[in-house]
Amino acid sequence: MTPTVLNLEDLPLEQKRVLIREDLNVPLENGQISSDARIRAALPTLQYALEQGARLMVMSHLGRPDEGVPIGKQQQFSLQPVADRLSELLNRNVPLVTDWLDGGDWQQQAIVLLENVRVNKGEKSNSEELARRMAALCDVFVMDAFATAHRAQASTQGLAQYARIACAGPLLSAELAALERALSNPLRPMLAIVGGSKVSGKLTVLDAIASKVEKLIVGGGIANTFLAAAGYEVGASLYEKDLLEAARTLMQRVAIPLPRDIVVAKEISPVAKATVKAVGEVAVDDMIVDVGPASSAMFADDVGSANTILWNGPLGVFEQDQFGSGTKALAHAIADAGAYTLAGGGDTLAAIDKYGVKEKISYISTGGGAFLEFVEGKVLPAVEILQQRYAQMNEAKGVSPKGAQ
Ligand code: 3PG
Repeated sequence: MTPTVLNLEDLPLEQKRVLIREDLNVPLENGQISSDARIRAALPTLQYALEQGARLMVMSHLGRPDEGVPIGKQQQFSLQPVADRLSELLNRNVPLVTDWLDGGDWQQQAIVLLENVRVNKGEKSNSEELARRMAALCDVFVMDAFATAHRAQASTQGLAQYARIACAGPLLSAELAALERALSNPLRPMLAIVGGSKVSGKLTVLDAIASKVEKLIVGGGIANTFLAAAGYEVGASLYEKDLLEAARTLMQRVAIPLPRDIVVAKEISPVAKATVKAVGEVAVDDMIVDVGPASSAMFADDVGSANTILWNGPLGVFEQDQFGSGTKALAHAIADAGAYTLAGGGDTLAAIDKYGVKEKISYISTGGGAFLEFVEGKVLPAVEILQQRYAQMNEAKGVSPKGAQ
């Protein structure tokens, strides 16, 4: 594929001050990292730059702290646990630098992690002043944070605009290539599975996907709205009345197989009883929490006959084991499929981890929001600026945009 951005591998890095934006926004439970998938995904980029002799500054956000408030006053947003994990995984000390905006001696070190970019005033509003200050820290800026590429913020789009040299990192490029492969010219038939709690949160994604796939399986609360739209009783289940018409329109545009049987419960709790019912037998006080075995078998057939599969979102409340059978069966069917399989989104990654099918998915994206925005066909601002700068660079050199000369 013809490159449309400058890549890290195109640049000499020896002794260069290299600032790498990663997305190390990992889930934390009681201060402990519950999934280090995003840290692991960044490792090849960091290892490559270290091997090339660069002096690395790694930056990331963590959560959504208050801007302008020192990290000491909102310690729960500190990247210290990430620095510790990174040190373990790289087998070398990765110090965390707290006050880094004006540079310092610490820039002589082979690798440091800069404290949460989102405590800096102007990060979210993509302040030019802040982006230029960060750009002054480095010779080369590497945008590698696919999962944050949909945010036009100072450490993503802004830095890529003002850094002396800005390029894409290998993780960002791999994510874009995997998504392109699944979406631009997929091997047909293509199947998408979109789960999640609300249609409203994913209406634009569902809309975009409906014109790309032969079949669409909906799951979770989203499926409830489709069941209600098809005239089924959904009892006390979460569903969106004002989107019934939108669901009907989607069902006319693309094949959306509805579950034949479902799992219901009277409450969602670790001790709640799971009962399998036919789809037409839901009582008014039942909550639909999963799909039943007949539906799982039907979806497994759909998965088995697809050549490209895009998966985002679980089929039920899989965090509770008794409501997880549908998502588990789906995860295994996808793992066993001969198709090109692409999965993304926080819940999906948690399900992949829980059911141990990670090695058998063709590509697992680190992106949540970014993954969905790409699928919707939206431009990712931090990628767009890299493309613009690459085109300008080639123009200045007299090279055609396709690199044909
Ligand atoms: C994510 O977790 O999807 C990314 O890190 C972006 O985080 P944000 O939604 O807080 O910008």
